[in-house]
Amino acid sequence: MADTTQSFFGTPAVAIITGASKGIGRAIAIEFARRFSEGLLLVLTGRSEKDLQETASLIKADSSFLSSKMTVRCVVGDLQNQATIQNLIERLFENIDPSQYQHAILVNNAASTGDVSKYVRDFGLNDVKELQDYVFLNVNCPLILVSKFLSIFSSTIPDTSEKGPSKITIIQLSSNAALVPIKGWSMYCTGKAARAALHKIIAAEEPNVRVLSYSPGPVATDMLRYSRDNTRDPDTSRMTRNSYERSVQPIETVTVMCQVLEEDKYESGAHVSFTDIVGPPKNG
Ligand SMILES: NC(=O)c1ccc[n+]([C@@H]2O[C@H](COP(=O)([O-])OP(=O)(O)OC[C@H]3O[C@@H](n4cnc5c(N)ncnc54)[C@H](OP(=O)(O)O)[C@@H]3O)[C@@H](O)[C@H]2O)c1
Repeated sequence: MADTTQSFFGTPAVAIITGASKGIGRAIAIEFARRFSEGLLLVLTGRSEKDLQETASLIKADSSFLSSKMTVRCVVGDLQNQATIQNLIERLFENIDPSQYQHAILVNNAASTGDVSKYVRDFGLNDVKELQDYVFLNVNCPLILVSKFLSIFSSTIPDTSEKGPSKITIIQLSSNAALVPIKGWSMYCTGKAARAALHKIIAAEEPNVRVLSYSPGPVATDMLRYSRDNTRDPDTSRMTRNSYERSVQPIETVTVMCQVLEEDKYESGAHVSFTDIVGPPKNG
């Protein structure tokens, strides 16, 4: 049975974070490193080795790092590459002993926008591979990661002879695009809606696991800049430029996400939005 009485950040933990090389994923890694006081193994993944190492350096430069029992592991790989995904997932979970941790966390953060320059009518048979790759990265990969994660960490819970984490949390970065149709963003909206549904199903299937679908609001990252500069639909383009002007820094939304986790009042699997909590960003 998952222990819901423990503080989120108060026990030795392992956290696997996808898309930790920049943006929101990097901020989650840095904030987790600051907050977990009793020891933390951070497993960070992304395609860019240089950017992952920069995330690790930023964590290690923090004065609290030296005094804490913290390990940072960077695992470079492409979550969209179906030919190498098995090897990448094995490397992500390599040499992790569940008995060392009281809390296991998976953060399904990595994502892509897909093509934001096309309406549905513009896609053709030449785009089949691109569409399949998109769904693989944004929907299937989170599913496979959750499956592997649960096979390692949750199977130890009912067996009292085999100690494992008493608390298991799965966080996925969602978006308003999971809930509302946005013209020209069919790939992103479809991917985010499917991914939100997936995490609702995980919450229903795994009552002992806490599942948070967190929508971070507009955040000044490469993803939002890419959307701002490449969206073709005029209404969506205007909305995206406006969102960028009002966007917050990654650390601001991650701080709110950490408060949600710490308070632990959210319904498992439900969509929790930064803007619902703090209101829409006012600057710009
Ligand atoms: N920014 C916003 O306004 C906003 C709003 C709502 C929701 N979100 C969600 O928040 C999450 C993080 O977005 P962000 O804004 O921080 O985006 P970002 O700055 O573009 O970062 C995306 C991360 O995902 C990784 N990634 C992308 N494709 C990958 C692949 N094929 N294999 C492995 N890793 C890959 C990137 O690493 P590499 O490039 O090193 O591979 C990077 O670390 C996403 O789920 C996004 O949908 C963002």
